[in-house]
Amino acid sequence: MSQITNNPVFCALDMQEVDAASAMAAQLSGYVGGLKLGLEFFMANGPGGIRAVTEAAGLPFFLDIKLHDIPNTVVGAMRAILPLKPALVTIHTGGGPAMMEAAAKAAQEVGSERPQIIGVTVLTSLDDADLRAVGVSGNAGDQALGLAQLARDCGLDGAVCSPHEVAKLREACGPDFTLVVPGVRPSGADVGDQKRVMTPTEALSAGADVLVIGRPITQAIDPGAAAAAIASEIAGG
Ligand code: C5P
Repeated sequence: MSQITNNPVFCALDMQEVDAASAMAAQLSGYVGGLKLGLEFFMANGPGGIRAVTEAAGLPFFLDIKLHDIPNTVVGAMRAILPLKPALVTIHTGGGPAMMEAAAKAAQEVGSERPQIIGVTVLTSLDDADLRAVGVSGNAGDQALGLAQLARDCGLDGAVCSPHEVAKLREACGPDFTLVVPGVRPSGADVGDQKRVMTPTEALSAGADVLVIGRPITQAIDPGAAAAAIASEIAGG
């Protein structure tokens, strides 16, 4: 669990090609705290692709595969990915207490090198009307808060949340719960399709531990320089 470094930025490599992801990772080495590889990359390239990118990069990585199934299947999937040595892995809190407890226990099997298991609460693509359509009567904010507290009680290490939920979740879940925050934009950056953004410094002061930043780095003319500028903005320089 010691794989999160002083630099809280994990760069989202939202691409399918192993070569492109490896080249991007090589440019970012030294300027980010880690890499995030998601479902799209994993589906396209499997564990071999993950190994190819992360072993060459030598950076901690966040395997954002949002597992959600019966406990037995999630435990099997967790055991299959633990040899990749991710720093963080996501599972859906909607899988329920037994699934979360089983996933947390499976991760313990690898001892101190285990990844942090991070719960996905309410996807930010869902609004209150979408939640009602799937039978949830509360609003998205309250639902996210309740699921984060449940995740903590089931032994998960943290949760993903939007910048605007961080302060509330930090207060409710305590100082040791890892809050992973996407929707972060360095000062002056193009917000793209992210609607409710914060700067890295704002998100960190609200209580974020890990900042997931993709396009402001990967689509910059010089990704290494963009990542270095973010690191310097965070350091106050
Ligand atoms: O390019 P950008 O910085 O917007 O990328 C953010 C990353 O965080 C993407 O990988 C996106 O899928 C992910 N993410 C998000 N909002 C969430 C959960 C994950 O933007 N609520």
